[in-house]
Amino acid sequence: MKKAIVNNVFWLGKVDWELKKFHGDELTTNHGSTYNSYLICEEKNVLIDTVWMPFAGEYVDNLAKEIDLNQIDIIIANHGEVDHSGALPILMKYIPDTPIYCTANAVQSLKGQYHQDWNFQIVKTGDKLEIGNGKELIFVEMPMLHWPDSMATYLTKDNILFSNDAFGQHYATDKLFNNLVDQCDLFKEAMKYYANILNPFSQILRKKLEEVISLGLAIDIIATSHGVIWKDNPMQIVEKYSQWADNYQENQIIVIYGTMWNGTKIIAEKISEGIELIDPDAEVKVFNLTKSDQNDLITEVFKSKAIVIGSPTINNNLLSSVAGFIHLLKELKFKNKKAAVFGCYGWSGESTKLLNELLGNAGFEIIDEGFRNRWNPNEGQQSEAIEYGKKIANIWKEATII
Ligand code: FEO
Repeated sequence: MKKAIVNNVFWLGKVDWELKKFHGDELTTNHGSTYNSYLICEEKNVLIDTVWMPFAGEYVDNLAKEIDLNQIDIIIANHGEVDHSGALPILMKYIPDTPIYCTANAVQSLKGQYHQDWNFQIVKTGDKLEIGNGKELIFVEMPMLHWPDSMATYLTKDNILFSNDAFGQHYATDKLFNNLVDQCDLFKEAMKYYANILNPFSQILRKKLEEVISLGLAIDIIATSHGVIWKDNPMQIVEKYSQWADNYQENQIIVIYGTMWNGTKIIAEKISEGIELIDPDAEVKVFNLTKSDQNDLITEVFKSKAIVIGSPTINNNLLSSVAGFIHLLKELKFKNKKAAVFGCYGWSGESTKLLNELLGNAGFEIIDEGFRNRWNPNEGQQSEAIEYGKKIANIWKEATII
């Protein structure tokens, strides 16, 4: 069922209440998601994006109840990823000649996925398309936000920016607009989305935000492709993105660890005690990696000014969970974050050295060789761990003051 956004612009996407994982199993979506598709009915009827493939049949059936498919004059594919283009193969069987406006890169991604030679019309930033009643669509390429093929489409007069993935959230709701949902949940999901998907492209994003602002387009509504539509003060999410894209951090330090027989866990807690003693204003949190949602943990890293990460040594190496998490940290290209490491060992004790190498390669500023502890920590060793926490907190505090 379509829902009105403003004037002749409608939402007719899919709310996916059940979704728990996205991008295969790579990203947790604890609040589900939505795939937002939009219909603009002016002298020309315009469809912007579709939905994920499993919902394609249901989507096209619903669309056909709202509009004679042959009356769709224009399709806009802002991005080729399957969660937005997934209904095209079914839809285009009904209307094979309808033009699909997209970037040159989107032609590649759509052809590469669906192996169809649809009526592609390539657009670039600044290109305009009249749709009647004095309204135009203006296209803005958004390469690497988050695919090379991404773009946004702006509708004049109604002043809507159809931003595709940018400004989205994996957040299932029956409410269309940002002011109608729990604000805490909304911003938590928006930040998780940014930290886990867009963070590697922060530098590009900063430039793109400046470019969009310099176009001088009035923006009354930001209609994303996931989650709620930003209709109430839409620039608030643009301002958030400006902050998040600028080496974002809060006054937070987190201690993350993997453990086998709890030695490294005890050290983690003692290091956190030491940090708290020196930096009581900072929020200090401790996470057992294997008992945490790794994507929520990424959001915690995103918020942190420093992380302390620990693994015991196993087979001359790290726990696979810790190594895998650092791989994810590297992918997400965090900047301006400090790190220290720790770990228990019984025999060879390579974990701290390896942690330092991996975290350094992942772009973290390493403080020293780390805190190593042989066997399970006794009282004296636990006190040493507290002292280590105090030591690293002091170093970080001094660095902040400078
Ligand atoms: Fe929501 Fe990049 O797809």
